[in-house]
Amino acid sequence: CGIVAYIGHRDAYPVVIKGLQRLEYRGYDSAGVALNCGEELNLYKKQGKVAELEAYAKDLDTSGNIGIGHTRWATHGEPNDVNAHPHPSGNGKFALVHNGIIENYAVIKEELVKRGHVFQSETDTEVLMHLIEDVMDKQKCNLFTAVRIALNEVVGAYAIVVISKDNKNELIAARKSSPLVIGIGKNEYFCASDATPIVEYTKNVVYLDDGEIAKINLQEGLKLKTIKNQEITPYVQELELKLEALEKGGYDHFMLKEIYEQPRSIHDCMRGRINLEDQLVSLGGILEYKDQIVNANRIIFVACGTSWHAGLVGEYLFEELARTPVEVEYASEFRYRNPVINEGDVVIAISQSGETADTLAAIELAKSKGALIVGICNVVGSSISRATHCGSYTHAGPEIGVASTKAFTAQVTVLTLMALMIGREKDTISNERFTRLLIDLHNIPDKVESVLKSDAKIQHIADIYKDAPNALYLGRGINFPVALEGALKLKEISYIHAEGYPAAEMKHGPIALIDEEMPTVVIATKDASYEKVVSNIQEVKARKGKVIAIVTKGDSVVSGIADHVVEIPKTDDLLVPLIATIPLQLLSYHIAVMRGCNVDQPRNLAKSVTVE
Ligand code: G6P
Repeated sequence: CGIVAYIGHRDAYPVVIKGLQRLEYRGYDSAGVALNCGEELNLYKKQGKVAELEAYAKDLDTSGNIGIGHTRWATHGEPNDVNAHPHPSGNGKFALVHNGIIENYAVIKEELVKRGHVFQSETDTEVLMHLIEDVMDKQKCNLFTAVRIALNEVVGAYAIVVISKDNKNELIAARKSSPLVIGIGKNEYFCASDATPIVEYTKNVVYLDDGEIAKINLQEGLKLKTIKNQEITPYVQELELKLEALEKGGYDHFMLKEIYEQPRSIHDCMRGRINLEDQLVSLGGILEYKDQIVNANRIIFVACGTSWHAGLVGEYLFEELARTPVEVEYASEFRYRNPVINEGDVVIAISQSGETADTLAAIELAKSKGALIVGICNVVGSSISRATHCGSYTHAGPEIGVASTKAFTAQVTVLTLMALMIGREKDTISNERFTRLLIDLHNIPDKVESVLKSDAKIQHIADIYKDAPNALYLGRGINFPVALEGALKLKEISYIHAEGYPAAEMKHGPIALIDEEMPTVVIATKDASYEKVVSNIQEVKARKGKVIAIVTKGDSVVSGIADHVVEIPKTDDLLVPLIATIPLQLLSYHIAVMRGCNVDQPRNLAKSVTVE
């Protein structure tokens, strides 16, 4: 979910609506605003996207210089108008937006119902609002104190902002495990789940920490406390984010823009980190803990979704180049086991947003068992980047399309750099291989650029297979995770069922699915397993399946067997994922567009999953 709030000299409504649009990637089941027009709180909520809320509020009173807004990814209660945020208090004097989950809401609700509270929605958030109101009535305290006391009774995760009908000068905000940033302008303040709604107004921000509560008052300024009532001095940081990065820049969709940005984002990710002349790889953010990482007995990657696929690529890279044993874990599985973590284990958490709740929880668990935690995040200042001991940012720039593209290739780039750095220190890579890899890595952005030139051809292939109900993706070795990622991309945005498989495993199951209708996408580049993959393609063709193959430039064998080939330039075997991923992203993109799907905001998904 996404939260925006404004207080200051401007009209709050347009600021809040624009902010919600920027945050829509975090969820878009329903949206709502609450505005203080002077006499009362105007509350408008609508199922669906922010545009639907805007259409609904078109002729209504949207005046006021203080407002809060929310875009929701439903957890408790279906995404209808009533369950949408903001939620009012029983007396209608306050309204609250919330991101996260109140785990003990049922117990609190029962107690409040006994005390006469009546609820309109099924949400945990409304319970929190009523709890705050209840504390205020009982203790005869102000809103700030009431919020603070109420939060001490709550178990779970929250980022909240509360406004009051009777105070046009004040917003109250708080966070625990869900992000919240406060922007400080001239006689105006902003709150948001990330900095994107804020950057066009001010570069000065304060990231709230867990257990902190803020009183944002136009007369008194910004005051921070812990929920245990200790005062804190706000730490104001300057944003590096650029506004252009948040716009589509002439592309039809953010996803397409982000696919096309990859030559640049991969370059940015490597900038200052490889030195061809001195044959060096250095990652400044992990230098302090370099010895511990180099000497790790075992490395465990924890991640979700596409980031988990990057972890799988990392497994091949680390084992091959650094000879360190690696395990790759879904964060959500890892955290609910009792994982064995020994001294000398290093946990690397991979996350584009840096906010994924399961990944964050896996980090806390591993930390409590004494592991060193390294982060690979894209969003600077995100919760995961702050929860880790050290880390490397991917520097891909804001990724807005829900389906991850440039963040994935940047994650793989950082993992390659880490593996090279460790391998160099451990002396597990020959000098020649190290040099060759550095040169090949340096050339990756140009090679990605050349693959993007195949876009028209890929679009043509997309047109042929856009109505397929199923698709299979095959790859071997380091390209097996590429197949998984290709299948996930198609599934996420086109709703075609797709499976990724290690090519050799096909004969143990998925081969049964192959018929004349079924497209199989195969990564068949010239590497150590090339011949084996060619045999797998023949197995598909023998069953009359359709084959789309990603091949190394100049390959004449596969083009003789497959129905379609997309050529990619030659590079070191270990770097193929960085290039082979690109045509798969484009294929999914075009198929989804042709099927009329909402590419940037696919149904039921959210980009930043801050719930467990
Ligand atoms: C969601 C997104 C995916 C993403 C995953 C992990 O499911 O839709 O695109 O890969 O979360 O997100 P993270 O921000 O931790 O990389």
